[in-house]
Amino acid sequence: MTKAFIVGHPIKHSRSPLIHGHWLKTYGLEGSYERIDVEPVNFGEFLKAFPARGFAGGNVTIPHKEAAFAGVDRRTARAERVGAVNTLWVEDGTIWGDNTDVVGFMAHLDRSLGTGWEQDVDTALVLGAGGAARAVVAGLQDRPLKRILVANRTLAKAEDLVRDLGGTGPAALAPLAWEGIGSALPGAQLIVNTTSLGMAGQPPLAIDLDRAPAGAIVADIVYVPLETSLLAAASARGLRTVDGLGMLLHQAVPGFRRWFGVTPEVTPALRALVLADI
Ligand code: ATR
Repeated sequence: MTKAFIVGHPIKHSRSPLIHGHWLKTYGLEGSYERIDVEPVNFGEFLKAFPARGFAGGNVTIPHKEAAFAGVDRRTARAERVGAVNTLWVEDGTIWGDNTDVVGFMAHLDRSLGTGWEQDVDTALVLGAGGAARAVVAGLQDRPLKRILVANRTLAKAEDLVRDLGGTGPAALAPLAWEGIGSALPGAQLIVNTTSLGMAGQPPLAIDLDRAPAGAIVADIVYVPLETSLLAAASARGLRTVDGLGMLLHQAVPGFRRWFGVTPEVTPALRALVLADI
């Protein structure tokens, strides 16, 4: 029986066991996917020991993604660019780390908008400069955009992101002060919120979407609530919207394939199952 895990601290709110459990059942596979709570001080030891405990691999979540990046034997190019690892597996005794948030975000965009959506997009405006923003920017860099602007409350973090990720892919990457969002909006055909603003219990993201061009796409990676105030405002303006739940579901696909050998489908049934748990 193949065993996988999700490791974090705390871990009880993770929806990943629901997703992988659904796929194990759907494909009739003998396997398990369990939650493991590991305190930061013990993470290094856990990482080295999981293969000997019989695990094929697993997911890594907050606060261990950077420690996983530092601790694995080998990293994929994507993980290298993002600076964080959320998926682990073992190959010939070597512990590998990947960052599947990158493909998770892009797969959901492509699914929601249809391939070729980039043709209408010159400039993407990414709000936030944390780990999620790095994954989003790394994904967008693989596409034929002209410009990616990264706006963050703490400008220095946007500058760091641009320094670390710049120079890969065709788009010019530039940091933007948070106060500059209003004037950048008219030139942005894709707007992505990666901050925690708009999440249940947090203040809403207050930007004036009336300044965004008609036909702009507005994506939010927040999925609790599913329709954030940003997405509601975008819909009210007739803009195309992309919610945050799809990224969560799609980022799980590469790990499941590596551990259990089946490429799982993100279906409406899976979406409904996870939605019911939100
Ligand atoms: P994640 O890994 O999910 O991206 P993170 O690294 O903690 O999480 O990043 C959170 C992001 O939300 C950051 O860009 C943060 O801005 P700062 O770098 O200035 O902290 C942003 N954020 C959180 N609260 C915010 C607020 N009240 N206003 C603006 N941005 C906020």
